[in-house]
Amino acid sequence: MRFKLVFVSVLALAACSKPTQTDPNKSEENKVVEVPQNVQTALQRNTCLACHKTDRKLVGPSYIDIANKINSTDEIISLIRQPEPAHWPEYPKMIGISINDADGKVIGDWIMGLKTNKP
Ligand code: HEC
Repeated sequence: MRFKLVFVSVLALAACSKPTQTDPNKSEENKVVEVPQNVQTALQRNTCLACHKTDRKLVGPSYIDIANKINSTDEIISLIRQPEPAHWPEYPKMIGISINDADGKVIGDWIMGLKTNKP
């Protein structure tokens, strides 16, 4: 009887302590996608951060979703300047941003590197 009680409380302890370690929400938050400093600076300078996050949707699609739909840095640059809303029917329209070539290349190359559907 006594043994059983101890056993049950050990089980209860285990049950209580486990979720804090494997809480899926927590581990999602901890999974920070590193953004290189030069990319972060370019995103900031061009106000991209107001509407895009790397790995989840905000006002616009995540950069990972964009990476998986678009196939070259040049295409990214021209879509930043003149977005194609038909690509993203479930989102509001992005207004084109006149990004300079250097920032466009830094951001475009970085987005291409995020592809998770590489052949
Ligand atoms: C005011 C909000 C807003 C800002 C600021 C913004 N975006 Fe967007 N972006 C969106 C939305 C919404 C979409 C999806 C709809 C669309 O493409 O029009 C999108 C789509 C895109 C696409 C895909 C375009 C396509 O047609 O497939 C790229 C690439 C992109 N954004 C990059 C950027 C970059 C880089 C910046 C900064 C230079 C930026 N966005 C700034 C809201 C924004």
